[in-house]
Amino acid sequence: MFKNTATVCMCLSEPLRGRKAGASLTRCLHQTLAMAKRLQARRLDGIDHNPWVEYVKLASEHDVVNLGQGFPDFSPPSFAMEAFQHAVSENFMLNQYTKAFGYPPLTKILASFFGKLLGQEIDPLENVLVTVGAYGALFTAFQALVDEGDEVIIIEPFFDCYEPMTLMAGGRPVFVSLKPGPVPDGELDSSSNWKLDPAELASRFTPRTKALVLNTPNNPLGKVYSREELELVASLCQQHDVLCISDEVYQWLVYDGHQHISIVSLPGMWERTLTIGSAGKTFSATGWKVGWVLGPDRIMKHLRTVHQNSIFHCPTQGQAAVAESFEQEQQRLGQPDSYFMQLPQAMQRNRDHMIRSLQAVGLKPVIPQGSYFLVTDISDFKSKMPDLPGAADEPYDRRFVKWMIQNKGLVAIPASIFYSGPHQKHFDHLIRFCFVKSESTLRAMDEKLKQWEGGYAALKSPPRP
Ligand SMILES: Cc1ncc(COP(=O)(O)O)c(C=O)c1O
Repeated sequence: MFKNTATVCMCLSEPLRGRKAGASLTRCLHQTLAMAKRLQARRLDGIDHNPWVEYVKLASEHDVVNLGQGFPDFSPPSFAMEAFQHAVSENFMLNQYTKAFGYPPLTKILASFFGKLLGQEIDPLENVLVTVGAYGALFTAFQALVDEGDEVIIIEPFFDCYEPMTLMAGGRPVFVSLKPGPVPDGELDSSSNWKLDPAELASRFTPRTKALVLNTPNNPLGKVYSREELELVASLCQQHDVLCISDEVYQWLVYDGHQHISIVSLPGMWERTLTIGSAGKTFSATGWKVGWVLGPDRIMKHLRTVHQNSIFHCPTQGQAAVAESFEQEQQRLGQPDSYFMQLPQAMQRNRDHMIRSLQAVGLKPVIPQGSYFLVTDISDFKSKMPDLPGAADEPYDRRFVKWMIQNKGLVAIPASIFYSGPHQKHFDHLIRFCFVKSESTLRAMDEKLKQWEGGYAALKSPPRP
């Protein structure tokens, strides 16, 4: 109040000395009045910084091999590309609006496909909602279900949007971390070695807990939750009457014979679970931005309320392409020519290639059992070259990634962004690489790593930052 009064006085006295006092005065008053009103909605407080924007920009300014953001740099399978072409060329009505909650052939095939997979009767109208990517599904779910003061349990490391989405809905994120177990000397760590402490997890549930967000396979660690771990989560959700928002966008990407299990398939979980999927991840077409939520009508009806009052419906042609792609995959499911078999096989080869290459420069990858990411331990670099440029309070992994982009031409993502603020400093020794990349990108990565002159050499005589 006083600050604004002072500003008005200053503005009044300054232009009155000049000749164009009238115009300046009006402009000044307008500016002052505009400043007096709070511009930003309170729900945006503290969430304006997005690390992706920073790293994507930095990467664009250097000659780099980009292993940062999670998108394939190869074509979607030909059957999916053809499906999209059919959608844009064959039926002109696909240029028009469709049903608000999903293009009917898509909701129908999602219902039948996942119904069989999950052993659950799924109604296309009541139990399926098509959204703008899995991002849209998550946002709709948080807006529909999380109220002022509700607590949402988020398991760290977590896909970074869960926290701001909870906050925007007025909720309070409550964090619990996966902790790595001991690693035998000379062996690589594995994402299955990162576990929840059952007592710690149980302690996070309170009467205010509304939902728990589960992500399996997990981004960024690549952890695939075992049945036993899911049973623990499920029993706590049931015991405390808590909803489970299960983000399963990488469900097809599991390796070494591991199996993805949807928590909704466990007894008693259908009634309290939302299962979220993404055509972008499923068909290697992230730009299509088609996602979906499956769940019981008693929950879905609230998501439909958000959807009908926000975007109303998603682009029709993308939905038609996804519908046709699923129709084809349904016929091949479980067979060697299924994309859901071929993609993980190819990505397992990429994973193994990347692990070998990173090890050669002294990095220590944590072997992922799923997703298309792996994190790598940079503790050795942290102890040998701790003084990389950057603000003193900037987590080490962020400084390391900037240094690596600028000096080594490789882009990764600092893993501390997948942790809550207070925990970031405990997890600033990990960076995330993405391996859903073409052979030529992996070869280019190898070239950059060769030029690195070997991590061990770098450690012996650390480069000047
Ligand atoms: C765990 C997880 N959930 C959701 C999404 C968003 O998926 P979509 O591109 O379909 O919005 C991503 C994207 O990277 C992700 O990693």
